[in-house]
Amino acid sequence: MLMVKLLQNFLNWVRGIKSPVTDAEKTLLSPDGTIKLKITLRQGHISYSVMRGDAILIRDSKLGIKVKDLPPITDHLSVVRTTEKSVNETWETVWGEERLIVNAYNEITLYLSETSKSERLFTLRFRAFNDGIAFRYELPPQPAFSRIEIEDELTEFNVDLNANSWSIPAYQPDRYEYNYEKKPVYELEKSVHTPLTIILPNKYHLSIHEAALYNYGEMTIKLDEWKALKSDITPLSDGIKARVELPFNTPWRLVMIANSPIGLIKNHIMLNLNDPPTEDYSWVRPIKFLGIWWAMYVGEWTWASGPRHGATTQHAIEYIDACSRLGVQGLLLEGWNGGWDGDWLQNGKTTDFIHPMPDCDLPGIAEYARAKGIDIVGHHETVGFIDNYEAQLEASYKYYADLGIRYIKPGYAGSMMSIQGKREYHHSQLGVLHYQKSLELAAKYHICLDVHEPIKGTGIERTFPNLLTREGARGQEYEGGALSPSHACILPFTRLLSGAMDYTPGIFDITNTTKRLSSTLARQLAYFVTIPSGMQMAADRPHFYEEVNPGAYKFIRDVPVNWEHSVPILGSIGEYYVIARKERNGDNWFIGGVTNEEAHKVRIPLDFLDDSSTYTAEIYRDSETAHFRDNPLDIHIETTEVTKNNYIDVWMAPGGGFAIAIKKHTQGQ
Ligand code: NOJ
Ligand code: CA
Repeated sequence: MLMVKLLQNFLNWVRGIKSPVTDAEKTLLSPDGTIKLKITLRQGHISYSVMRGDAILIRDSKLGIKVKDLPPITDHLSVVRTTEKSVNETWETVWGEERLIVNAYNEITLYLSETSKSERLFTLRFRAFNDGIAFRYELPPQPAFSRIEIEDELTEFNVDLNANSWSIPAYQPDRYEYNYEKKPVYELEKSVHTPLTIILPNKYHLSIHEAALYNYGEMTIKLDEWKALKSDITPLSDGIKARVELPFNTPWRLVMIANSPIGLIKNHIMLNLNDPPTEDYSWVRPIKFLGIWWAMYVGEWTWASGPRHGATTQHAIEYIDACSRLGVQGLLLEGWNGGWDGDWLQNGKTTDFIHPMPDCDLPGIAEYARAKGIDIVGHHETVGFIDNYEAQLEASYKYYADLGIRYIKPGYAGSMMSIQGKREYHHSQLGVLHYQKSLELAAKYHICLDVHEPIKGTGIERTFPNLLTREGARGQEYEGGALSPSHACILPFTRLLSGAMDYTPGIFDITNTTKRLSSTLARQLAYFVTIPSGMQMAADRPHFYEEVNPGAYKFIRDVPVNWEHSVPILGSIGEYYVIARKERNGDNWFIGGVTNEEAHKVRIPLDFLDDSSTYTAEIYRDSETAHFRDNPLDIHIETTEVTKNNYIDVWMAPGGGFAIAIKKHTQGQ
């Protein structure tokens, strides 16, 4: 109440000394002066536009919020006061693609008040970075009310309608698991998820996204009836976008800006817009893991009980032994609990997350794993039945924690979630609240998560680093007909801009007739570098690594999951992509490259290497006759000595790729 009173006094004071300022213009420049964010208040209407140099990136675009039963907060506004600040700091990640991240921006905050009778208060905070812009709405405590129902957010991103875009459709039964579509912006009549990547006719590359999504519906984007590219916040089942108490800040709206596709990969604004952790997360450990998993996809084993049940004590012990031999730190167990017999998509209503099946002695398995120094990755398939899951959430996390299990892969298969007895979108406010609740509870038990069928990434892993990865896109489970080689050449410029992904790489059984992959063997290694993940699965059965192709497996053994620094080298959306990464706490570098259905030859300069030392490059590439359709296993492995003055030429077969480990010579070598 005191806060409200003070605000009221302040407003009265401002009004007493001058008439409301309903026309104003403010320009916010990025620290290097190249990006210009113009905020305009014209006759009480608020909007913004973005330029880089002389190039227009976003034309005048409306801002505002519509609250139920009241006129929208977008016009009749006056500026009460503005503040400005500049930040230039470097922070250290707990894990990820970079150890050190620079956060440099200029900020302007506009404190607005309505000139109409309702006199609502409304704050807009804008930031300009060297490679993008961001803003959010802040609703301070109001004299008149403390709870609001948000009916719509009026944010527009008015890019050239002839720009090209890459996106996946929103509000679909398989959530985010779709093939990307390339379309001119004027065809975005149906909502799409973000990151929405756009190539403007002036060749600037943008990606529209959001950061720090909490307690609010996800922002999807579509053209409205006036052909404005507008935010479309995911509704709850009754149509309201979010019910919130004031004060409330919306997630950040964010536009990444680059000159080229590769430029987008270097963008860290999303993480920068999230808060640092408030607790110690030094217990978080990224890992590689095997799984009692792909054997189910190829039909050898089952999640359900019976003679081919996968998650038995015996199989688990065999796989734990394989983890030790293969130098992999974790083992995922799917199908260990009830719920899989019969129609598992319906059973989620009553799934039990605490009692293992009779042939799966989970406490015994956990003890065996602990003695071998291997982590068990637990599994919770909720099928989106949140009421049933939340009733057991704490007990099930505690059950795992008591067994020493520090990693969980929760899954939310199912076209909708069932929450509080209603059918809700995964990416609705209630869905977002559930994912958050489970993440915070996991942190309490020092458990790390790999969320399948998640809400999209908005950088909250900066604040909650135990969120080691998520799925949230079509991954290799769609192989066997529904994945084309171009997909993995689109992901880095779209989905992966929102953070780590569990793509389940490393399938060596490429020619399996049940799940025939659209990939060469060398490409399976490339994914460990091109698709970063704090929990990285070596997804095939161990005997394919140990017996069928131990030479190729060596790369998976060697490749780290936590990086010091990443250097995107070249890429074209949907065509090819090459990136180099340096391991954290070490001197070695790793390079991954993938191409689409076309062969592609690349020349990789090694000038990113740290010093003039000599390195051994272990190259895993497609052989000259490899092809993802008729000769996928033909891999060529060679070593060569290199320095930073060299380059490496690599040919990628159609649907192929390559992986290179560049190991620094230690003294005496
Ligand atoms: C879908 C997940 O993406 C997959 O990894 C999992 O095996 C199945 N659901 C069953 O939970
Ligand atoms: Ca999935």
